[in-house]
Amino acid sequence: DPLLPPEFTSCGISYVGDDPLDVNCCPPISDVIKDYKLPPVRQLRVRRAAHRLNRVNVAKYKRAVKMMRDLDVSDPTDPRGFSQQANIHCAYCNGAHDQVGHEGLDIQVHFSWIFFPFHRWYLYFYERIMADLLKDPTFALPYWNWDHPKGMQLPGIFDEEDSSLYDTNRNQDRRPPVVLNLALNSTVTDPAQIISNNLSLMYNEMIGTPASATDFMGKAYRDGDAPPTFPDGGTSEKGSHSAIHAWFGDPRNEYNEDIGNFYSAGRDPAFYSHHANVDRMWTIWNDIPADYPKAITDPDYLNASFLFYDEKKQLVRVKAADCFNHKKMGYDYENVDIPWLRSKP
Ligand code: C2O
Repeated sequence: DPLLPPEFTSCGISYVGDDPLDVNCCPPISDVIKDYKLPPVRQLRVRRAAHRLNRVNVAKYKRAVKMMRDLDVSDPTDPRGFSQQANIHCAYCNGAHDQVGHEGLDIQVHFSWIFFPFHRWYLYFYERIMADLLKDPTFALPYWNWDHPKGMQLPGIFDEEDSSLYDTNRNQDRRPPVVLNLALNSTVTDPAQIISNNLSLMYNEMIGTPASATDFMGKAYRDGDAPPTFPDGGTSEKGSHSAIHAWFGDPRNEYNEDIGNFYSAGRDPAFYSHHANVDRMWTIWNDIPADYPKAITDPDYLNASFLFYDEKKQLVRVKAADCFNHKKMGYDYENVDIPWLRSKP
């Protein structure tokens, strides 16, 4: 059977490994849960690369995050607030919820085939909340184009110290223009070499290595399964995705907070733009011809479901199958050159 959504009324303590955390990441409770229907799309939101964003769009993004941070103060229980949004990640990844009917089996949205659908829905509502606060239905989340040489460093918009997009809890040795090293390999120091290695690594995780859809997406994860662990994840999740969490997490903090740990990753505004690119990788992979079928048709995958608060503070239930077409969800990615397509090692 498919994975069921958590019961927010039985949210408990969250953990890193076996260490209980001193934070409460339980979402607000609601008696009404609606099955979510994608609203009709009037105009596509276009997610643009963060390093190419124009000033108007940078200003909008800053204002949206500022408004979410203000909600934290005016009403800490408002599910649209920045901290509440960050806590979603903790609630689904750090053991706060058991699977319904399976006491002691944590829900874990990483390292399996639900990794991409869960995070796509997460960003979908995050983006809609920002658009609603801005009263701008065209607002789109910028993506961090880390698969392109120009995006292989923290985008400058996240590194301005007095901006709402800034987070002090990052590795200070990796502030821009330090080049991101996806291999996390400290023996290679020449930036041009790091970039070329990054491109080969991208080619491999997107094209060279996966021999099946689950190789790329992650293994099956169903109702009653033990929480998946790192080796069960797909090539993209285990590769570039995890590397960025590890590269930018702050080693001064016990668990590499913020972006370096699940429970705290959402406190870094860069996290959402990071995941927009992870989501973009899913769309790109889908369109690359391969000698294996890209679609997973197992009903336990299609019907895996999650709960989120929408931009009207309504608790909604969504399922994986309703997020497979991102244009039907109302957004698309700006087209840019994809050099790793030509970087077969
Ligand atoms: Cu839910 Cu990049 O992690």
